[in-house]
Amino acid sequence: MRIGMLGTGVVGQTLEGKLTELGHDVKVGSRDPARSFEAAAAHGELIFNATAGGASLNALRMAGADNLAGKVLVDVSNPLDFSHGFPPILTVCNTDSVAEQIQREFPDARVVKSLNTVNANVMVDPALVPGDHNLFVAGNDDGAKAEVRALLEAFGWPAERLIDLGGIDAARALEMYLPLWLRLFQAAGTAHVNIQLMRARE
Ligand SMILES: NC(=O)c1ccc[n+]([C@@H]2O[C@H](COP(=O)([O-])OP(=O)(O)OC[C@H]3O[C@@H](n4cnc5c(N)ncnc54)[C@H](OP(=O)(O)O)[C@@H]3O)[C@@H](O)[C@H]2O)c1
Repeated sequence: MRIGMLGTGVVGQTLEGKLTELGHDVKVGSRDPARSFEAAAAHGELIFNATAGGASLNALRMAGADNLAGKVLVDVSNPLDFSHGFPPILTVCNTDSVAEQIQREFPDARVVKSLNTVNANVMVDPALVPGDHNLFVAGNDDGAKAEVRALLEAFGWPAERLIDLGGIDAARALEMYLPLWLRLFQAAGTAHVNIQLMRARE
């Protein structure tokens, strides 16, 4: 599949590497006109938003609404603002999220929130963390979520460990998980951590 990777940070690079290894044709985009967000989005049949959450709308505007229309857009961003030091604050929360902002501004894109709750290495190699830990998907388009789930399974996530949290408004919870993730990271002493949902026996 042709994939547009918006973002050149550790997430964009890590996802690009794994997707290429899986045989996909990935084009990476940035603010640099030599490898623009626009060209990457035009290339992709499916697109990843792996840009800084506070800048994602700007990046997607640069990508162009026409290049997003009708396509699955996997939003892995987090709205973290480190300008006041650590821990960062969320630039949007409670009543809204980056993923919802994206879906509102680009209504023809099929936005799916996923992968933002784990470190980049864990995204593409869940076995780095032992146990039956979970990953989440949220979005308004069931077909889009099914496509993303298939990609996640190719990354190594067993189907039964993928939890569908419902519509794109569930992205609020996924993004507001980050303050806890940052504390878990500090407590564990490694970014290779994740959580597992345990249910009571009926
Ligand atoms: N690091 C992780 O393990 C991890 C895990 C889960 C989720 N996330 C989330 O995934 C996203 C990517 O994280 P990252 O660590 O790879 O990189 P990052 O430093 O958060 O973001 C880098 C990307 O953001 C773009 N960007 C920055 N300011 C911009 C602006 N004003 N307008 C347009 N684009 C702008 C950069 O564009 P240029 O290429 O032009 O510089 C670059 O492509 C973030 O939202 C992060 O919170 C990260």
